[in-house]
Amino acid sequence: MFLSRRSFTRRSPLACLGAMATTSFGQHAVEQPVRSNNGFPQKFLWGVATAAYQVEGAVYEAGRGISIWDTFAHSPGKIYNGDTADVATDSYHRCEEDIALIKKMGLNSYRFSVAWPRIFPDGNSSPNQAGIDFYIRFAEALRSADIEPICTLYHWDLPQQLQDRGGWQSKDTCKAFADYSGYVAKQLGPFVNTFVTMNEMRSFIDIAYGEGRQAPGLHLSRKDLAQARHWALYGHGLALAAVRSVAPKAEVGTAENAYFFIPALEDKEHIAAARLATVEENAHFLTVMHTGKYTERYLRSLGQDAPRFTQEELDVISAPTDFQGLNIYQGLYVAPADGPDGYRVLPLPISYPRMDSSFTHVTPTVMYWGPKLISEQLGINKIYITETGCSAKDVPEPIGEINDVDRIAFLRAYLDQLGRATSEGVPIKGCFVWSLLDNFEWSDGFSKRFGLVYVDWKTLKRTPKLSAQFYRNYIRAATR
Ligand code: BG6
Repeated sequence: MFLSRRSFTRRSPLACLGAMATTSFGQHAVEQPVRSNNGFPQKFLWGVATAAYQVEGAVYEAGRGISIWDTFAHSPGKIYNGDTADVATDSYHRCEEDIALIKKMGLNSYRFSVAWPRIFPDGNSSPNQAGIDFYIRFAEALRSADIEPICTLYHWDLPQQLQDRGGWQSKDTCKAFADYSGYVAKQLGPFVNTFVTMNEMRSFIDIAYGEGRQAPGLHLSRKDLAQARHWALYGHGLALAAVRSVAPKAEVGTAENAYFFIPALEDKEHIAAARLATVEENAHFLTVMHTGKYTERYLRSLGQDAPRFTQEELDVISAPTDFQGLNIYQGLYVAPADGPDGYRVLPLPISYPRMDSSFTHVTPTVMYWGPKLISEQLGINKIYITETGCSAKDVPEPIGEINDVDRIAFLRAYLDQLGRATSEGVPIKGCFVWSLLDNFEWSDGFSKRFGLVYVDWKTLKRTPKLSAQFYRNYIRAATR
């Protein structure tokens, strides 16, 4: 099954042979990127990622409004140990220090997010000048340090007042999001070339409105949840148009934690099964965004609970984006199966290795198969790995060093598989490790550490871990 609505660029098998100029495909001349030793193109964004609520702190400063995450984090029993992000890593006040850390790691880009309630404290009336000024200064500082700013517009901190009016269950929120996005893109446009409209619809809808594990902590019915997914998609589509109208040169996309499938064996049958799973298991978000249709299987499986939608909404949702961001932590192994689906997701054995969080199973080949199959099945010609990484139980040694060799082993294996993908021409243009520093990991509070830089939660002192050095060296080798 090949569902692409767009032409899929054929790629040269010669691309893996190193630097070269131009290859001819029939009548079309195809420019081959110059490649370095590790299989990565030389022009590649190497970065780290964070999100406003997880690092900024300063939640009551400079006119910021309350977000659903402030409310959730202050509700008893929602966050591990009762932690809140009121201070977090205090990055609002420590921008210079954070930028210096990024620079020291030899990175050429940084993915951060804007806190919607800093810009429109109550969601959608008048903008808060102090809020936007903060991000203008920040983006400007990144540019002067030669760090490409990648700006996420929505990383889950919905203004509480919008939630009180229905949140993502209401079509009005889509309009408010578009207005906010257009405003931010206009203000940051002179400094920012890349905007991510939304981060992980599956997390901020399914986990937050369905399972109740994230803000606003609801347990919607299947029908209401399917409709909320639809409005999130529609909000993205309206925001895409709004950003384009004020920043026509900017590139715009989303960052999705899609389900990524790995053929359990790399043979024809397993690969075919992984292709089917990629399209069907992502029907509710990525597939409809890139094909303009909910799959028949998805609609059939929901029956009476299927979302209500119009063709106009589907057109808005599936307007072509400039790239697709993928947040890749783990993959799922699949095998072929008899029956209507044609594939079966294999359960992981109890002894399967994983890092510190329940979802960080060590599946390096996901970095090859994930982007490759998504690109091929959905006709996507530009991908950023907007997040990858893992949590680890980092314990400073008595001399103060954090020798996180477990994270290094994880990252080395993942990045090598990413290089395998780029060397075969999978159109990946950048990679962002989650995260710059240990931060407020949502309902896990401060109990899980994902950073390349260690944060002492008593003093907020930052200490680069050994993995920060590893990443710098890996990039140096890849760009030689
Ligand atoms: C991604 C999010 O899902 O994974 C990040 O975009 C998040 O915001 C990261 O911090 C790790 O997930 P978690 O649930 O362990 O905080």
